[in-house]
Amino acid sequence: MNGNNKVKVVIVGAGLMGTGIAHAFAISGFQTVLVDISTDSLDRAYSSITEILKSGVKLGKVTEEAADAALGTLTLERELSVGAKNAHWVIETVSENLEAKKAVISTASDVMADDGIIATNTSALSVTEIASILPAPERFIGMHFFNPVHKMKLVELVRGLASSDETVAKTRELCELIGKTSIVVNESPGLTTSRMSALLGNEAMYMLQEGTASAEDIDTALRMGFNHPMGPLELGDLTGWDTRLSVLKYLHSTLGEKFRPCPLIIKMVAAGRLGRKSGHGVYEYEDGKRVPGSGLKVSVS
Ligand SMILES: NC(=O)c1ccc[n+]([C@@H]2O[C@H](COP(=O)([O-])OP(=O)(O)OC[C@H]3O[C@@H](n4cnc5c(N)ncnc54)[C@H](O)[C@@H]3O)[C@@H](O)[C@H]2O)c1
Repeated sequence: MNGNNKVKVVIVGAGLMGTGIAHAFAISGFQTVLVDISTDSLDRAYSSITEILKSGVKLGKVTEEAADAALGTLTLERELSVGAKNAHWVIETVSENLEAKKAVISTASDVMADDGIIATNTSALSVTEIASILPAPERFIGMHFFNPVHKMKLVELVRGLASSDETVAKTRELCELIGKTSIVVNESPGLTTSRMSALLGNEAMYMLQEGTASAEDIDTALRMGFNHPMGPLELGDLTGWDTRLSVLKYLHSTLGEKFRPCPLIIKMVAAGRLGRKSGHGVYEYEDGKRVPGSGLKVSVS
């Protein structure tokens, strides 16, 4: 038995991300507490974690005993001040709202262990700004997980202005203990992943707009030439071009000209071609499946 069962990790927010993060800690043997103000969210999270564990057993990735032990170590709680009492780690993953996040970490810091560390899973808010309300901002860090957490290996650790070396080192160790690979990024717009992905998707749309190659061939280039699991246009259809556009606008305003959104993306969003969720984006979808040969053709005549 490793020492993880002596370490209390509290995940606040039992939505999409909190569910996956709680699973990762429970299966690694930590005392895991999942907190949410909504009973429905907690119930849904518990069912999803049970399902992930069941399919892990079916696929031979975890034993039945390990799956039972994971559920045994998981506690659900609605009251943060109760759930976070004496916690060694608190990972905040409530809705993307600055004031809500500040309220959560302030309550958590009042009741957790004196040398405990608080992390936020925010995608875009400032780690430095959230930490500013804490008496010990040096023990605060960003832990940016990826969806679905049980499949994605990466955690981007976001270093705020005050995060200490010790906090970064301890958080890297924690990632290893749950089988994740971490990278460390100084707080900056788009971190590494969103910034690279936004630029690639934007450039792919410029090529489509200019008629450089067909949509299918642009995607095939990245899949077959660079071993990407998905092409940039397929990925944009999955993420949603409206989401892509808002990320690009933010990066354009903070990082400059190279992130100026491609006019074709702006037109697509105006036309309601948002991607899979609206039934058409760069490709057409029927019953959730892509229609072969449906890649958008842009006529210039
Ligand atoms: N969805 C993604 O792919 C993704 C990826 C990386 C990071 N993130 C970030 O993770 C965070 C959560 O995203 P999500 O997609 O899981 O959201 P979600 O909407 O699925 O879940 C948010 C949960 O937080 C709960 N909540 C809200 N206020 C609360 C409070 N004060 N106390 C306790 N619980 C509270 C809600 O009831 C809900 O269950 C956001 O900051 C988001 O930017 C999301």
